[in-house]
Amino acid sequence: MIRELISVFLITDLIINRVFSGDVCANKQCQCSDGDTLVHCDSKGWKNLDGIDFPSKVITLTLIRNQLKFDTVTDRAKIENLSLLIDLSINQNILGTIPPFNQAKIRFLSLQDNSLVSAEFPSSYSSSLLKTISLSNNKIRSINVEDFLSLRDSQLTKLSIDSSSISKIDQNSFVQLKKLQALSLKNNQLKSCEFLSNLPSLSSIKLDGNQFTSLPQQLATQEKIKIFSFKHNLISIIDELSPLSRWSKINTTNVQVFLANNTFDCCLSLWFIRFLKTSPQFVPDASLLTCATPLSFKGKLLIKLNPDDMNCGSDIPSKSWWTIGRIIGIAIGPACLLILGVAMITMVYIYNRRYPSRSGYIPISEHDDLYSNTNSLFSERLTIPIGEDDDQLLTHNGFGSGRSLAQSDVLTQATTEGIYATDGSVAGDSHIQEAVSIPRSD
Ligand SMILES: *[C@@H]1O[C@H](CO)[C@@H](O)[C@H](O)[C@H]1NC(C)=O
Ligand SMILES: *[C@@H]1O[C@H](CO)[C@@H](O)[C@H](O)[C@H]1NC(C)=O
Ligand SMILES: *[C@@H]1O[C@H](CO)[C@@H](O)[C@H](O)[C@H]1NC(C)=O
Repeated sequence: MIRELISVFLITDLIINRVFSGDVCANKQCQCSDGDTLVHCDSKGWKNLDGIDFPSKVITLTLIRNQLKFDTVTDRAKIENLSLLIDLSINQNILGTIPPFNQAKIRFLSLQDNSLVSAEFPSSYSSSLLKTISLSNNKIRSINVEDFLSLRDSQLTKLSIDSSSISKIDQNSFVQLKKLQALSLKNNQLKSCEFLSNLPSLSSIKLDGNQFTSLPQQLATQEKIKIFSFKHNLISIIDELSPLSRWSKINTTNVQVFLANNTFDCCLSLWFIRFLKTSPQFVPDASLLTCATPLSFKGKLLIKLNPDDMNCGSDIPSKSWWTIGRIIGIAIGPACLLILGVAMITMVYIYNRRYPSRSGYIPISEHDDLYSNTNSLFSERLTIPIGEDDDQLLTHNGFGSGRSLAQSDVLTQATTEGIYATDGSVAGDSHIQEAVSIPRSD
């Protein structure tokens, strides 16, 4: 009887221990497989890891769809204690910054769908062995020089920061990532990719869903990159100035650019339509490319068009003129700027020479004196010229003299009238009679 009781007690104790104080696999809190090396603790509603213990054998751990922040030392210690952990996913949590884990063995880190506003890796990652990182679907608006500094000795080969509204990437942001082979920056707001020149091992770059309006020149200068993806951008013109023309000239092999869902202007991309026919190997999705403009070709497949039959009307000459215009612009633009610059400097120099002491007050008073002198001189001279001018006007201006003659005629008539008036034969104004009669009475 006592023995039975003891055994019941032991069994209950065992159960209680396994359920309430064991690790997440022992108490069946999480989904565990492969001898507790693969552990999924997703959608648990966890806000922190208090009372949670992971089996020490875990290699892959997912904590997806929780409300973890990893902003406490104790929460981070739960992860740091897992000496075999290689693959960690904390997707769909509420991380505001990249947690400063001190666990050098993690190779795959996924922090998608959080609230990260920065891609800055804390210094605790300086000896990390990270190979793959995903920071997609966060709120990272820009990538800065210091963000990946602590990963300078890492083995990082793959980095994804998709769908994060990134509009600015510092040219040197990825300089430390010497082993990076694949970079994905899809669905951001990028217009240029200068940062590509600092990625010596990169072989694939994905820039789909950004705001590129033309193929960047980096396509021609990056010898190691084999796959460029520019799907769903705003590329409208690909002509002989595009970096693709270099691909067909030099013996480039295995290079590919994906271009589906761009807004091609087919009349301004005749060169590209020909390129697709002669060098289809460079554009694997060539059969999907369609025209967006002009209206007569909207929706037409580029590969089905024959540039020689296309009625682009005035677009053909205007296109070549436009191209020539661009070449001339590029050629003489800097020269014009230089001339303009020299002209401005000369003007400033002349101005300074002419008014050398604009900065002080004394010179201004000198100018004032000068002006008052000229003014008085001028006003003295004024009296004479005005009379002269009037005379000139009267003597030289035919209309003026004519008018004065007419005026004197009127006066004479009036005088005559007055004369008549004094005689009393003509009824007139008494003033006129008086005024005019006085000289006459003499
Ligand atoms: C980490 O592991 C050590 C020894 O294995 C243990 O004493 C400690 O409590 C653990 N810390 C956490 C936070 O789990
Ligand atoms: C281009 O490369 C191929 C093989 O890579 C080679 O056989 C061919 O001679 C090269 N052509 C030129 C013009 O370099
Ligand atoms: C192009 O865009 C449409 C609509 O956004 C989408 O359904 C299609 O899958 C895209 N095609 C490619 C090749 O990306």
